Amino acid sequence: MIVKILDDYEKVSEAAALIVKALMISKPQCILGLATGSTPIGLYQSLVRSCKNGEISFRDVRTFNLDEYVGIDMDHPESYHCFMEKHLFDHVDIPKGSFHVPWTDGDNAERDCERYDRSIFEAGGIDLQILGIGGNGHIAFNEPADFFTEETHITTLDERTIRDNARFFDRMEDVPVKAMTVGMGVIMHARRIVMLATGANKADAVYRMLCGEITPRVPASVLRLHPDAVLFLDREAANRIEKLPFIHKM
Ligand code: GLP
Repeated sequence: MIVKILDDYEKVSEAAALIVKALMISKPQCILGLATGSTPIGLYQSLVRSCKNGEISFRDVRTFNLDEYVGIDMDHPESYHCFMEKHLFDHVDIPKGSFHVPWTDGDNAERDCERYDRSIFEAGGIDLQILGIGGNGHIAFNEPADFFTEETHITTLDERTIRDNARFFDRMEDVPVKAMTVGMGVIMHARRIVMLATGANKADAVYRMLCGEITPRVPASVLRLHPDAVLFLDREAANRIEKLPFIHKM
């Protein structure tokens, strides 16, 4: 994994966006893996600007999101469906039907998970996966566990994740406790990974991802085994690893 430290959130967003745009220009029919959370918002804003000024187009791009809460409506303002519309899909030229966000109403979750994996496989897999990291080291909603799960699955969210997500909901009891998430298979088979982490509250997770054991207890640690992964950090998220010798400062 290549690690690059940049000054601030804006620079992290632009550096990541540049990689996405370069792929979209060189391969207009690319398959993008998309993430939610506050971290990639700046990256999406940059993509929206470039699409509006004609530098890039989503006409032939297909996208697959990592995850979605279970137990809230698709049109709930905090659903990941709404998040993606608000921050990207409503502002770019992507055709309806070309973007995919996991969904299950819970009746046949196993079938919905299998179908999601199959649709990614049939599309040819992910060319470029955008990732954030949870405060506990999770990626997508692959929470710390005793083993890695390969397939898309339903997961129970970790206490830390529920606490972190509480800021988006009015009442603690409204915060979802379950989610549908791609597993490590989709993520680790992505041809390229671009991960972003910003802010001091990510410093511990970043340190454990890069410097500890590779273990399902810190799901992001497995990314060190990916052949083409780059991690962009701002100074705050990098504050525990800045002195390590393999770090590129930009
Ligand atoms: C959620 C998402 C993750 C994301 C994480 C971090 O848990 N499922 O994909 O990486 O939030 O979010 P934020 O960027 O808001 O810190």
